[in-house]
Amino acid sequence: MGKKADRYVVVTGANKGIGFGIVRQLAKEGITVVLTARDATRGNVALESLKSQGLHNVNFHPLDVTSQESILALAEWLHKTYGGIDILVSTFEAYKLLKHFAFVINNAGLANDDNDVTFETVKPGLDTNYFGVKNVTKALLPLLRDDTPGGARVIVVASTMGELKHLENKDYVKTLSDREHITEDFVDSFVNHYLKDVVDGSQKEGGWPNWTDWVNSPVGRAAEPYSVSKVAVIAYVSALHNTLVAQPGSGKKINVFSCCPGFVATDINNNRGTKTVEEGADTPVWLALHSPKECIGKFWIERKVVDF
Ligand SMILES: NC(=O)c1ccc[n+]([C@@H]2O[C@H](COP(=O)([O-])OP(=O)(O)OC[C@H]3O[C@@H](n4cnc5c(N)ncnc54)[C@H](OP(=O)(O)O)[C@@H]3O)[C@@H](O)[C@H]2O)c1
Repeated sequence: MGKKADRYVVVTGANKGIGFGIVRQLAKEGITVVLTARDATRGNVALESLKSQGLHNVNFHPLDVTSQESILALAEWLHKTYGGIDILVSTFEAYKLLKHFAFVINNAGLANDDNDVTFETVKPGLDTNYFGVKNVTKALLPLLRDDTPGGARVIVVASTMGELKHLENKDYVKTLSDREHITEDFVDSFVNHYLKDVVDGSQKEGGWPNWTDWVNSPVGRAAEPYSVSKVAVIAYVSALHNTLVAQPGSGKKINVFSCCPGFVATDINNNRGTKTVEEGADTPVWLALHSPKECIGKFWIERKVVDF
């Protein structure tokens, strides 16, 4: 797969903000991009905007990352539109005809802006930022090519608000620091424990991220569940990497990365960020294009790996 036109990428939450910037940069590179958005009208407006900029190598399909039905519909459409041959038919020649995907970029994100931290207010953010990433990744992994030079890629747009320094629970910090041994089940249990503590109102005792000094900021306590969701998704990337390398034959060819785009002026922070969308898209796009061999499964900021 030498030519860029033969490379395909799916970007979630791409109708605006950083996701839109990622699509534009990858399309300018000549890569075929599937822009997805939960709202078809907003997605098609974004698509038309790119076409008006001369970028015709972009296609649109709806995707609500919190809906398993929507995820499976996208997977089926991708397979029919770009595959054409049953992926299980894998004789060498037949497989060469497949146009499956080289990259998936999980960008869709939600920051609840409700300072009243309850199960109802935190669940949508966790469903989007953690369970959504996980479910989309699981559904699209079989569509990833294993002949992509340097390996197919899954990139997750996380945040420095998911760095472990924000967690006060020492046991979780210890276990999640041991990246080589993090498991997907453990990350699920971490998120479910947080939800239970929210129901019980015992986040302080549970040692969950403490953003009380943000209470008077526009984000305030709503930062707490966002932070938990980003700790979880960074840990999930390490866990997924561990799962993949443990699978003989296929594991080494899918490289997964998490990254932070920086503080970018978008709707998620009422445009208070200091970076442009193009600057925020830089590291996820760079990871997609370069897929550094070292530090797979790790967390990146400004093209550099950092401790999380
Ligand atoms: N901006 C920053 O400073 C910053 C910093 C660190 C990390 N991030 C991360 O960067 C990513 C992109 O955020 P952004 O700053 O570009 O924010 P944004 O402009 O608000 O864009 C968020 C995107 O996610 C989509 N989305 C939300 N829920 C979804 C769902 N259930 N299914 C599919 N799409 C959904 C939104 O769609 P709608 O238009 O339909 O709402 C929108 O397209 C997020 O993961 C965010 O956490 C941002």
